[in-house]
Amino acid sequence: MTLKIGMIGTGGFSQLHASILSKMDGVKIQAICGTSKEKAAKMAFQHQDANGYDHFLEMVDAEKLDAVYIVAPPMVRGKMELELIERNIPFFVEKPLGIEKEIPNKVLQSVKQKPLITSVGYHFRYKNSIQYMKEHLKKQKIGIVLGKWMGEMPRVNWWRNQEKSGGQFIEQTTHIVDLLRFVCGEVEEVYAMYGNRVMHNQYENVTVADVGTVSIRLQNGIIANLTNTCILPDGVGEIGMKLYTDKGTLDWRPDRLEICENGPKSEHIDTADPYVLENEAFIHAVRTGDTSQILSDYSDAYKTHEVTYAALESARSGVPIKLTTN
Ligand SMILES: NC(=O)c1ccc[n+]([C@@H]2O[C@H](COP(=O)([O-])OP(=O)(O)OC[C@H]3O[C@@H](n4cnc5c(N)ncnc54)[C@H](O)[C@@H]3O)[C@@H](O)[C@H]2O)c1
Repeated sequence: MTLKIGMIGTGGFSQLHASILSKMDGVKIQAICGTSKEKAAKMAFQHQDANGYDHFLEMVDAEKLDAVYIVAPPMVRGKMELELIERNIPFFVEKPLGIEKEIPNKVLQSVKQKPLITSVGYHFRYKNSIQYMKEHLKKQKIGIVLGKWMGEMPRVNWWRNQEKSGGQFIEQTTHIVDLLRFVCGEVEEVYAMYGNRVMHNQYENVTVADVGTVSIRLQNGIIANLTNTCILPDGVGEIGMKLYTDKGTLDWRPDRLEICENGPKSEHIDTADPYVLENEAFIHAVRTGDTSQILSDYSDAYKTHEVTYAALESARSGVPIKLTTN
């Protein structure tokens, strides 16, 4: 049976998911929804001659879709997920789940009442190096973790607006928070400091912080610090997470994992594309009902969102925030 997919968004990441889906057997991009009919029709033409729409409800009313991808910016989260749950249509949604907590919480409650196949775009979980690290750590005791997302400010306008993106820690560094949870355990408490150093002087309407550091205590006692900035020029950024254990260090970056224990360093390079793996896991689940390959569903991703939002609350209030539901 050919699965009919609806895609929401016509930007960079919708294009990436659409190009991966287009290469899969038995999968058709049936419909694409953008902010204008022209943009949707242009992308629809590039991908299996799909149908173009400028309104989500029009698309789901007109098409019989087996699953929908929500790859629009964070500020449009909520209505689409709730409508898809109501209609029993499985969905893949890109991170982050929202900007504040109210809307993701509403979706979470709805998905708990009416279980549905969901998947969230925390693609780093699908990396072989991360799977290897998790396995390797079973024989070690982690003490402290240092993580970072040091880069440039993404070009898209919505990103620099706090009301539209949630800011760097919620929108981008969320990937490292999610890895911290996936590899090390659940979070108990966060204490954040954010600042505005550079970007508000370089561009108009920058309302997101451009530097920030978040200290984190995990329920199992591990201490972590995740730091981010978006002030750097292109090409000099650093993204990663380094774990200090009783056996040595594990230094992960998106392109490799380096382990340093007694003896020579060892390096693990990823060979599989995690974006392909996360799409295959979701499509497999939609086709068969077997969700075991999905590594981040809505309920799990909500816990990551809670941590990133607690960091924002801490930065705003100046006090540490304890998490209640993790
Ligand atoms: N997992 C990753 O590695 C990764 C990387 C980049 C982006 N993303 C995520 O993907 C999402 C989109 O990012 P992007 O880089 O593609 O942004 P983008 O600005 O390039 O594209 C967003 C698209 O959404 C469309 N859109 C906005 N409102 C809409 C609506 N109401 N209905 C339909 N379409 C609408 C816009 O017209 C635009 O085409 C974000 O949540 C982002 O965090 C994930």
